[in-house]
Amino acid sequence: NFMKEVSGFSVLEQHIKDKLQLDHVIVIPGNSDEHDWVKQELGKACVQFLKSMLNSDQTIAVTGGTSMAAVAEVMKPLKGINNCMFVPARGGLGERVENQANTICAEMAKKANGQYRLLYVPDQLSEESYQSIIGEPSVKEVLDLIHEAAVVIHGIGDAITMAKRRKASEQVLKKIKAGNAVSEAFGYYFNDYGEVVHKVRTVGIQLEDLSDTNCVIAVAGGESKAKAIISYFRQGKSNVLITDEAAANELIRGF
Ligand code: G3H
Repeated sequence: NFMKEVSGFSVLEQHIKDKLQLDHVIVIPGNSDEHDWVKQELGKACVQFLKSMLNSDQTIAVTGGTSMAAVAEVMKPLKGINNCMFVPARGGLGERVENQANTICAEMAKKANGQYRLLYVPDQLSEESYQSIIGEPSVKEVLDLIHEAAVVIHGIGDAITMAKRRKASEQVLKKIKAGNAVSEAFGYYFNDYGEVVHKVRTVGIQLEDLSDTNCVIAVAGGESKAKAIISYFRQGKSNVLITDEAAANELIRGF
């Protein structure tokens, strides 16, 4: 593996792989809390990993966030992999446009020479409108593609940071704090034990669906995310972690 040789973090990678019981761990140098270019390096490692395992005609579901935006930024044509389809993993979660799964999905597809479909489900909906929207044939078609995805790529965030960034209501913020939420992924907020404290209601991939997906790649770096990464992996729904040196070292200390 090329990344392993250049990074020289194979011992660290193996240690994390064993502790979190993952199939693959890639550690790249630096701390994404301090430098944006480290996030881009995380992105490059993700693109390289994708190239090594993706097959033609497969569907890739992607989430939102700045780490995923970095993956999109450095995405390249996936040579030898034809007709891949990118879809957003879940509907609206309250992110600004550049951090939304839809935006990221479209950018990735264009750069990878793939196709894409978007999910138009607003963040705040009454039960009635929600039910009628998910019954729309165009939404259903995309939901079917999402459920067929062979690969899922997602970020992991610190719970409070994510709730604030998404302008969660006072009530939701209280719930997240009272439940001692530490991490967030896919719009789910988890505590130290990996239990779900709060979940944003939207369509697309639900946590349970991940068990049926062969390859679920988490892209998360920065020292500040170590606790969140451990918390998320308590439930063990992803099998690949792409992270940076700073998060990796802090992870080891946290075990
Ligand atoms: O969904 C967003 C992730 O949980 C974390 O976002 O990559 O901007 O830290 P981030």
